Amino acid sequence: MSLDQTHPAIADLARTARRRIPHFAWEYLHSAVGEETARDGAEAALDGVRFVPRALRAVTQPDLSARLMGRDYPLPFGFAPVGMSGLVWPGAEEMLARLAAREGVPYTLSTVSASTPEKVGRRVGEQGWFQLYPPGQPEIRDDLCRRAREAGFHTLVLTADVPAPSRRERLRRARLSNPMRLTPRTVLDAARRPAWALGQLSRGIPSLETLAPYARTAQARGSTEHVGYLLRCAPDIDYLRALRQAWEGPLVVKGILDPEGAQAAVAAGADAIWVSNHGGRQFDGGPAPIRQLPLIRAALGPDVPVIYDSAIRSGLDILRALALGADFVMVGRAVHYGLAAFGAVGAAHAVHVLREQMTADLCQLGCARLADLPGHLAAAAG
Ligand SMILES: Cc1cc2nc3c(=O)[nH]c(=O)nc-3n(C[C@H](O)[C@H](O)[C@H](O)COP(=O)(O)O)c2cc1C
Repeated sequence: MSLDQTHPAIADLARTARRRIPHFAWEYLHSAVGEETARDGAEAALDGVRFVPRALRAVTQPDLSARLMGRDYPLPFGFAPVGMSGLVWPGAEEMLARLAAREGVPYTLSTVSASTPEKVGRRVGEQGWFQLYPPGQPEIRDDLCRRAREAGFHTLVLTADVPAPSRRERLRRARLSNPMRLTPRTVLDAARRPAWALGQLSRGIPSLETLAPYARTAQARGSTEHVGYLLRCAPDIDYLRALRQAWEGPLVVKGILDPEGAQAAVAAGADAIWVSNHGGRQFDGGPAPIRQLPLIRAALGPDVPVIYDSAIRSGLDILRALALGADFVMVGRAVHYGLAAFGAVGAAHAVHVLREQMTADLCQLGCARLADLPGHLAAAAG
């Protein structure tokens, strides 16, 4: 039986993922902060965006291509940065990079990945974006940018919505430490998931490989805390201006929900704005990102590229974000549910599911081009 029959939707991949990886890895991937209302509310708000199908349009092969920051993509979505993907599935970063190269869509490597720009750059081809958690020290910032650039990553993404660590209550309950430490509980948990455990055994415990060269600087500051948090700072608009000076290629600011913040970032040199609530992992009291998207589009006008992520679970969700003002969409958990369920094959299947759903829904709407989607919105959603 094919995956299309057993796992026709992202939710099916999520169910299998939960059974296939250790409890702590599932908690890491799926959890959000607090009561998780920001994550669930983002999903519910997307469901509320409705379209009116147009009859007698005879659309059978809609065009899924998109243009973003001077590049053409065959699909209107790519992969959002997910720190420690390698904890979700062994070798995840390299698998996603290869998939992105094959599909011709962007893959954003996280600063806190379990791999390095040097290793991932060899696989990602033309599709590499690098996500920066802003190091406080300019020398470390410059070194990370240099490594990313030399490894072939052309677009830099500054994450602006993590001014400080969030509490991540579910991770505390799951006893997941960062850096990960083996305890009798985690070993037992892992032993029950042999495919995951064997894959990790052959690679070593996943760690923050990109940041390893700077670990000594962090330790010198007298703490044993997670090197990622020790190195990063809370960025302000001056930080963005300095980064603009330091990075010549396209620069994206990620984690924007307020229209004024979006305008300020563009004024300081951002080439694109990435609307996101970080998958609900930072602040449980914010608005649904999809509701902020049209406000941000209106504040920026039609020409500034806007990217959307958060709670994308179907091709229809991608169409919803595009209809409400996004030029491009990024997926975080959805493709990782595929990875955790079936490794590289599962991630590719997640992309297939999203593509097939978009195609079917565009035909249903009688919409031949993504640019025409706003005209299909039902009145209440606009
Ligand atoms: C497990 C996990 C780790 C993440 N790590 C990062 C990260 O390192 N950097 C970052 O900018 N965003 C990170 N994010 C946020 C994603 O880039 C993205 O905003 C979010 O996953 C979108 O929501 P979705 O997962 O519902 O699609 C992470 C998200 C998840 C689920």
